[in-house]
Amino acid sequence: MYSAKVLDHFANPRNVGEIENADGIGEVGNPQCGDIMKMYLKIDGDVITDVKFKTFGCGAAIATSSIATEMIKGKTITDALGLTNRAVVEALDGLPPVKVHCSVLAEQAVKSALADYYRRQGVDPEPIVGKLEEDCHACECGAHS
Ligand code: FES
Repeated sequence: MYSAKVLDHFANPRNVGEIENADGIGEVGNPQCGDIMKMYLKIDGDVITDVKFKTFGCGAAIATSSIATEMIKGKTITDALGLTNRAVVEALDGLPPVKVHCSVLAEQAVKSALADYYRRQGVDPEPIVGKLEEDCHACECGAHS
């Protein structure tokens, strides 16, 4: 049911933990299942130099957050803003359809952390990051899948 990559990232999640003095912290929750994902970013200029996460959630949520951290580490903010849940699912060689909503949480956690980064700079994040659905029901409306 799960790809080898999903199982690997679930069993050995990368970049788990917190960053002290993070430049941006995002937290998103899925109201349906109650799972929570927290993402910490260290940003130097335009580059995400470090990223860590903590996920209190299902295996797919852990695997998607783990691979999402790998996909944005060392990348520019612009690259990270372009990270879609679809790209996360593809990087994991797919997820069962009922678990695709877990990948939405990973995309939203990255965006939420970037929004926090901009807020700390006194910049309104909405024109850059877009409207965040921190109480996202996207899993049901399919807008992100
Ligand atoms: Fe909640 Fe996967 S079931 S994020």
